Amino acid sequence: MVRAHKVVLAYSGGVDTSVCIPYLINEWGVKEIITLAADLGQGEELGPIKEKALRCGAVESLVVDGVEAFVTEYAFPAIQANALYENRYPLSTALARPLIAKMLVEAAVKYGADAVAHGCTAKGNDQVRFDLAIMALNPNLKVLAPAREWGMSREETIAYGEKFGIESPVKKSSPYSIDRNLLGRSIEAGPLEDPMHEPPEEIYLMTKAIADTPEQPEYITIGFTKGLPTHLDGKNLDPVTLITRLNEVAGNHGVGRIDMIENRVVGIKSREIYETPALLVLIAAHRDLESLTLTADVTRYKRGIEQTYSELIYQGLWYNPLKQALDAFILNTQERVTGSVRVKFHKGNATIVGRESENSIYAPSLATYGAEDQFDHRAAEGFIYIWGLPTRVWAEKTRG
Ligand code: ARG
Repeated sequence: MVRAHKVVLAYSGGVDTSVCIPYLINEWGVKEIITLAADLGQGEELGPIKEKALRCGAVESLVVDGVEAFVTEYAFPAIQANALYENRYPLSTALARPLIAKMLVEAAVKYGADAVAHGCTAKGNDQVRFDLAIMALNPNLKVLAPAREWGMSREETIAYGEKFGIESPVKKSSPYSIDRNLLGRSIEAGPLEDPMHEPPEEIYLMTKAIADTPEQPEYITIGFTKGLPTHLDGKNLDPVTLITRLNEVAGNHGVGRIDMIENRVVGIKSREIYETPALLVLIAAHRDLESLTLTADVTRYKRGIEQTYSELIYQGLWYNPLKQALDAFILNTQERVTGSVRVKFHKGNATIVGRESENSIYAPSLATYGAEDQFDHRAAEGFIYIWGLPTRVWAEKTRG
């Protein structure tokens, strides 16, 4: 059965997405395959990947630079939302998916394709994110996910590829499944499937082991403008440079590792290791600056929004109306979130040690215990009388 004629395939250069090319052609009757590799700052040479796709049988091999868009359009809103899935994971992989989906849809329109394809399997979150994002952006486009259906084991996949001249991985392939981009690395599978198994040091690339970190602390002041990071130590940096630099500093001090059991969209619990140095520091610093510049009620209300927002991103609902509505709320709150946060990096910790803002609503004259105190102490008694009325009435009734 011919599933589609012309397909744009999300391509990473790995065995699975490479095997997708002959598989789509030979098993699903696809006539032409255009591959698309997104450069999201994964620090990998994309030139060889471009070549490889053509060798595997693609008629066209696209490499699209998306690093800047990734940071400004996907990571930055997540920072403003202090987005941490299950209070821990800053969504470094999840944020990349709606952007890659958008690139696929745009390429499909440009090249007149009737379908897009990806190499995700049936158990992960990424298939959900791709399919839903593509659906939201262009409901008429077919989505093909061969790896979800082909039922081949790792060995069978490699053997299938070899029939079509796709070289099997040279070195004994790593037992881990790794996803990487500018924001971080996600590592799972292999020995990590045992939740009690300590992650071996070798899996980390962006963060140092505590034993290897500098003895001396290092300080960095992060400047935010309307909730977006714009400066490091007073120097205005473009978004990609800022993240890159902060990844280096935080990683050098062993900051940014997460080891968690998370709840996947498809209902499976999975053990995942992340290293996301800059993103974690930026969220912590941003949240701190909000504590200086937002009122208590906005801050508290925003916490609930943040949790929903993180779940929407994790669950593949980036382009959905609820996400857009929450964006409007979050953006509105960021108007006054301008200022600086001083962070001390030392031995695996990024500790916030100071903050300042021209929009600070911290009132020293009210907070102080010194002689300059302006707080009306007599008012407290009346306030507590009224605030406590329901408690008093209830206590009198029930405790007689
Ligand atoms: N669990 C993470 C997420 O859902 C990462 C998924 C990809 N991870 C991987 N190791 N291949 O966003």
